[in-house]
This record gives sequence, structure tokens and C-alpha cells, in this order.
Amino acid sequence: MARKIILDVDPGIDDALALTLALFDPRLEVVAVTAVAGNVSAEQATRNVQAIIEQLDPPRWPRLGAAVQPERDPLVDSRHVHGADGLGNADFPVAELHHQHPSDKVITDEIRKAPEAITIVALGPLTNIATVLRRDPGLAEQVGQLVIMGGTLRGPGNVTPAAEFNIYCDPAAAREVFRSRTTKTLVPLDITSQVMMTYDLLDQLPEESTRAGAFLRRVLPFSFRSHRQLFGLEGAHIHDAVALMALAEPGLFETERLAVDVEIQGELTMGATVFDRRSAPTWRPNIDVATSVDTGGVAAAVLRGIAQAGAA
Ligand code: BDR
Ligand code: CA
Repeated sequence: MARKIILDVDPGIDDALALTLALFDPRLEVVAVTAVAGNVSAEQATRNVQAIIEQLDPPRWPRLGAAVQPERDPLVDSRHVHGADGLGNADFPVAELHHQHPSDKVITDEIRKAPEAITIVALGPLTNIATVLRRDPGLAEQVGQLVIMGGTLRGPGNVTPAAEFNIYCDPAAAREVFRSRTTKTLVPLDITSQVMMTYDLLDQLPEESTRAGAFLRRVLPFSFRSHRQLFGLEGAHIHDAVALMALAEPGLFETERLAVDVEIQGELTMGATVFDRRSAPTWRPNIDVATSVDTGGVAAAVLRGIAQAGAA
């Protein structure tokens, strides 16, 4: 039976790729896609989720959730990496924004409907997940599993020297989620960064005549350009797609059970993930962390997933 998942996303080109892979993966049943502010504003994230689903038109449409405007103005966004609209300036039309419930309500409903059977894959800031758990702390143990792309284990951050983007955007939310009793897996930046898609991916995309092909051909090239211009890289990271693979292809990852918390106010270190890796740790382990990845295996699985999306 396919595994029921909710994708919580802030699209974002790598979010869009992860969504494409998940929506056409027969092992997964995407029951909902919920938007969160991060790479782009709440409004744009909501619009992008709808645009992606409309463009891909998957066999089974998931429920959609709208991102809620964060209480404080965001300190950063990632439009320089993902384009002004978050999707490589593709500017997809959205005829009329469907009326959508807020993301936290959609997530709450789905968990109540299928307790312990839903996996949430969180590919943006943890704002929505924290809201869900704050409003009904009992839900923490009813989430089957929570897979998070975020933080760094050993490496530097990507938005500050210490912090990874998703955690930096809402460190208080990340702390609440990390401290919750939910069963969690973290796929940190130093693992996702080890996978880089090379330019030949662009030649292997499905034909323009397919929905997935037409969509990815409009979105992905921007990411390759921005990685070259901003980071001098001859390839593109696909962090969120790698995190999805930790769920779809767990055999490609090694994990370690660790204790993690988040720095929520350091002048230089706000948003840094802190692990208790002392020889005699006193923090209680609260998360499974991906500590190594079969990079070739993940890249191949992503290519297979793209081909599958094209064939659908
Ligand atoms: C994360 O930040 C975002 O820009 C990406 O979509 C990914 O979720 C990587 O740090
Ligand atoms: Ca993301």
C-alpha cells in the first residue's frame, strides 16, 4: 500500500522538483500539499503550490493548504537562488486562487483522519508544523513520521556561517518541533549538498509534450544558472529532492540517533542546529539524523523519478 504523505513546502525550485517526484511515485500517496513562507512570501508560496499542481495535473489531486503570513517580517528570502517568483521566473498563470484552508488546518485534519499513518515531509521553515503541535500537542504522537530538510550537522550554514536557511527563517518553530515527541528524521544541509545534479540532467528531462517535461524544462534551468553565478558551481543542488529520497529510498542513507536543539537568539549563531555529541551526552536523543548518503544512488533515483513523472 502506498505511504500517505503531506508535503509542506515553500516553492522554491528544489521544492518543486521534490513535489514532481512525489506526485508520480506509486509508493507515495500525496494526500496534501501545504504552503509555508520561506523562499518566497506566504502569498507567493500559496500561489506556487497551486500553479505546480495545475501544471503537473497528477492522477490524484492532493488537498492544498495556504501559507499564513508570518508574525514578523522575514529576515531573508531566496529569490536570488530560485527567481523572483520562486519558480525560475516561469510566472505560471493561476486562473483563480482556489479557496484554501490554512496549511496548519489541513495538516491537522489529515492527521486526525489517519492517526499514525501520515508522514509529513517538511521542506521549508517549520512554521506550520510548530503551529499544528502548539494548537494540539496531542497530535505530536499521532504523526507517523516527520522528515525534515534543514540544519547542518558538521558543515557551515548557507544563509549565515552557522545557520541553514529553513531553520534560520523560523528558529523558534524549529525548536518547538525538535523538542516535540514526534518521530523525526533530519536530512541536514551537509548531506543534501553532497548530491549535485549535473548539466546533463537538462538533456534527460522528459519531452516538452509531457506535463512533467514541460514544467521542469521551464523551472530547472534557472537553478543551474544561479548556482553558477552565485556559487561558481557547474551543477545544481536539489536539497529538498534529496530529503524526499530519505523517505522513498531509505537504503541510500545512514542515520544516527542524536540529540538536537536550535539556537534561537545568538548574535552570530541564530538558527544554528546544535547536537549533543559529547562523549558523555546529557541531552536525550530526539531525532534520527542522516549522516551519510549514497550520492550516486540518490542522483540515479532522482533521474528515475523524473522519467516516471514524464511517462505518467
Ligand atoms: C533549503 O532552503 C531552501 O532555499 C531550499 O528550498 C531548501 O529547502 C536548503 O537550505
Ligand atoms: Ca524548500
